[in-house]
Amino acid sequence: MGRTSAKFSVEPLSGALGAQVSGIDLAAALDDAQFAQVQEAFLAHQVLFFRDQNLTPDAYLAFARRFGALAEYPFAKGMDSHPKITEIIKEPHQTSNFGGMWHTDTTYLPEPPKATLLYAVETPAVGGDTLFANLYMAFGALSGGMAEVLTGLTGVNTSALHSTGLRSAHLKSGSMQAKTSADEALMAEHPAIRTHPETGRRALYVNAAHTARFSTMTREESLPILSFLFDHAVQPEFTCRFRWQPGSLAIWDNRCTLHCAINDYDGHRRVMQRITIEGDRPV
Ligand code: SIN
Repeated sequence: MGRTSAKFSVEPLSGALGAQVSGIDLAAALDDAQFAQVQEAFLAHQVLFFRDQNLTPDAYLAFARRFGALAEYPFAKGMDSHPKITEIIKEPHQTSNFGGMWHTDTTYLPEPPKATLLYAVETPAVGGDTLFANLYMAFGALSGGMAEVLTGLTGVNTSALHSTGLRSAHLKSGSMQAKTSADEALMAEHPAIRTHPETGRRALYVNAAHTARFSTMTREESLPILSFLFDHAVQPEFTCRFRWQPGSLAIWDNRCTLHCAINDYDGHRRVMQRITIEGDRPV
């Protein structure tokens, strides 16, 4: 395996979050100084995008492992040859997609993944972009009063809330293989405001796909506040949008972002490879 020696550039994609990294070959081993620069950019921009990569599954896994131990998605099987890579496939006949609601990945786990990598193998000519939102900004834009209320609240996160929209209908319609445990609902409680373990910054930590209510309230009582927060967090000024091409790779920080896969390409095929990195218990 070669080593990349060229300097790379990091260009912000929007005023809110996201940066495109150019001049880097992820199939070559990055030295520690180069990886430290990537890591620094990741923490600063929250989601990094790389284009025109040519990654075998082994090279992709090797890059992902630089960020930490690899996790597994609880509801779909990984590739037979590389179980830590889950293929996210939408076939031309399918109408639902995977991840088509604003969410942070698997917040129904006690220790949700700190990061997710997504590598584009096949993309529609147009459509299938992914949106991202900055949850530091969402927290920072709250009134002092709302921030104080939320600081004392815990969100109840469940995999059963919008399973038809987010994954089950898609899994059941055939292009991805469900794990045998796929019908069991998973649930975890996390603070509504979390402190990022590496940057020390505070971020809103609720999402429309998985946060059902606050632990001390009914769903009916929670919903007016949650609905406000779900809309508040995804206002255009807090977002960026990425257009995929085969060979594009993104890595996002699940501790301070939301994302949403846009489902606007019925009749076309989209194949992505997804890896998640183990995280810790949100505090
Ligand atoms: C996901 O939510 O992990 C998938 C996002 C995408 O396919 O763009």
